[in-house]
Amino acid sequence: MERKVTVPDLQRMKEAGTKITALTAYDFPFGRIVDEAGIDVILVGDSLGMVVQGLDTTLPVTVEETIYHCRMVARARRRALLVGDLPFLSYQVSVEDALRNAGRLIKEGGCEAVKLEGGLTMADTIFRLAAVDIPVMAHVGLTPQSVHRMGGHRVQGRRRGRGPGERERLIADATAVAEAGAFAVVLEGIPLDLAAEITRSLAIPTIGIGAGRHCDGQILVLHDLLGLYDRQTPKFAKRYAELERVAADAVASYAREVRGGVFPDEAHSFLLRAEEPARGGAGARGASGDRACGGSDVTGREAEAAGDEPTRAARRKHAVG
Ligand code: KIV
Repeated sequence: MERKVTVPDLQRMKEAGTKITALTAYDFPFGRIVDEAGIDVILVGDSLGMVVQGLDTTLPVTVEETIYHCRMVARARRRALLVGDLPFLSYQVSVEDALRNAGRLIKEGGCEAVKLEGGLTMADTIFRLAAVDIPVMAHVGLTPQSVHRMGGHRVQGRRRGRGPGERERLIADATAVAEAGAFAVVLEGIPLDLAAEITRSLAIPTIGIGAGRHCDGQILVLHDLLGLYDRQTPKFAKRYAELERVAADAVASYAREVRGGVFPDEAHSFLLRAEEPARGGAGARGASGDRACGGSDVTGREAEAAGDEPTRAARRKHAVG
């Protein structure tokens, strides 16, 4: 394993001009894939509401659900910095709420930092979190928790002005979160020249999503990148794979084989001991681990069927099988 990524590492990466890679993940298998690919930051985003739970917005996601997903990813993560996303209304009502809920993502979720949406209006909250050493990643521009104010998931910062979502206001938002102590800021859905200007002016790293190539790093929603979510396909969400099609083909093949009596064949069935091939034969360890033993590695159930007294090891396997 390469050395663990820490919060100060991201600052050093900005200063060295090394691009920061970030992706979302929501469970153990994908957390492992992302971590082993060497991605620097894994965000358990509240986008889980849309791409995992099938909701139309991120708004209903709860702290409990976020912790549940963070724990799964934390078990998989070895190297990446793990950031948990504070869900809607878990930090806006009071600073006390923010401290308590951010603390839960760290203590119970296994995160090393939290992310929250908002600029100027969140500066005090960010300051208080940073003061108790909870590292905060801020998020300005297209903030999905503001979907109703924005009238949809719309590009921000195209108009000049100091109103929410306008260009000069976004510069003020990004400046305010940096001054309040955020260690990085996500810039989402803003014109690339505005992202470039903010990136140049801030000392902390900017992580872009739909904000062009001048940011210090990039993040995408994993399910967009893998082709696992097509209810909304933002222009910036480049697909690097079509996993939904791969999964659908696999499931259709299984159904075809079961209906045709092709699966399960002998290679995927347990035989009586006398009929088993020699040890080291066909048994492959699959996703179900010990339960899927094959070859001569019989389970207690088979030993009993063969009239043998199951061994203690076989009984243990039987218990998990
Ligand atoms: O919830 C999320 O996944 C995010 C990223 C898109 C930045 O906020």
